[in-house]
Amino acid sequence: MPRLRRYNRRRHGAMSQAVPMITGVRNLLYKDPVLYDLAYPDDDEALAEKCLRRLSCVASSNIDSVLDLGCGTGRVLAGLAARCAVVAGVDINPIMVEAASQRCPNVPILATDLRSARLGRTFDAIIMLGNHFK
Ligand SMILES: C[S@@+](CC[C@H](N)C(=O)[O-])C[C@H]1O[C@@H](n2cnc3c(N)ncnc32)[C@H](O)[C@@H]1O
Repeated sequence: MPRLRRYNRRRHGAMSQAVPMITGVRNLLYKDPVLYDLAYPDDDEALAEKCLRRLSCVASSNIDSVLDLGCGTGRVLAGLAARCAVVAGVDINPIMVEAASQRCPNVPILATDLRSARLGRTFDAIIMLGNHFK
């Protein structure tokens, strides 16, 4: 087991950007949404704002509906729900779906594989933040 050095957040910034995560630690995060959010402590609102700003650069019209594929604990969904008329999430991990549903009670979140998910509608934009396939 590799030794973990004490992490200096002020010096290195958010952990998600600075430290390549050890596989065992990463796997643990997907079993406990509280740990996941501690490891990726980004500001929900700022993340959603950034996503929408980037999307608006490439969209030809207003973005009123967004689908978050692999939404995890719903940290981006929460901010998106405050800004868009229609928001939905998909995640294959029921533990993550449960956490996201608690965070965003009014957002439909499907516990299914994004490769075969059927939402029954289209969206103005789809986001997929983080590494889903390895
Ligand atoms: C790195 S996390 C990113 C979570 C979220 N987008 C975020 O930025 O916090 C990747 C997520 O994708 C989900 N995932 C991985 N493979 C998937 C698949 N085939 N279908 C749906 N979700 C998947 C995982 O369960 C996990 O919650």
